[in-house]
Amino acid sequence: MLAITAVLSILIGSLRAGISPMPSSRKAHRAVFEMLERTTPDNQQTLTLIDCGSGWGHLLFKLANRYPNARVIGYEMSFIPWVTSYLLAHFFLLRNVTIYRKNFLSQALPVSLQEGDILFTYLYPKGMEKLAKQLAAEHQNTALSSTNQSGPWPLQLISICFALPGFEATEQKNLTDLYRTKVYRYSLEKDPSIIPDRNR
Ligand SMILES: C[S@@+](CC[C@H](N)C(=O)[O-])C[C@H]1O[C@@H](n2cnc3c(N)ncnc32)[C@H](O)[C@@H]1O
Repeated sequence: MLAITAVLSILIGSLRAGISPMPSSRKAHRAVFEMLERTTPDNQQTLTLIDCGSGWGHLLFKLANRYPNARVIGYEMSFIPWVTSYLLAHFFLLRNVTIYRKNFLSQALPVSLQEGDILFTYLYPKGMEKLAKQLAAEHQNTALSSTNQSGPWPLQLISICFALPGFEATEQKNLTDLYRTKVYRYSLEKDPSIIPDRNR
């Protein structure tokens, strides 16, 4: 009975989220870390790493182990993956990890983005479209409301599988897996060339 309830909960959660909590692969993680190691500042103290849709925590926990001084945040709206990853984070004493049960697309991004923050996604096309709109809105608000160069840009997004519509990837890796999965890195700087298409 418990197993059936859990399966149903995961199914309903997947329907609501638009994607199942399928974990990203080791090959994808390798590509992500390779990108990170080349682009993150030495001072890891200030790093905030945010997995938008953290699932069971596969990528999140690796990030937390690799960057013990960073603040590692996960947002997961599906209950079973969220509660499992929440408990695992406590069990393994991952003190730099916080996992919120939250829809990160429901309103404005639930974190106040800072220079150097890094977002991670392994979503689906519609989800990437919504995220692109949020990032575009945030970009425009920031550009309009402030000339302060210490605003929330630049930040980076590393996306497994799906591109961020309207943004130009700074870098792209093609994995040698069955699906030829792509991993994209976006440097979201205050640079007109990466300001997304305003007609979207
Ligand atoms: C394919 S899994 C990826 C899990 C993890 N990031 C990884 O790399 O292993 C995508 C997860 O994103 C979650 N998700 C999708 N849209 C979301 C949203 N708007 N807010 C919070 N979680 C979301 C889904 O519930 C699912 O667990």
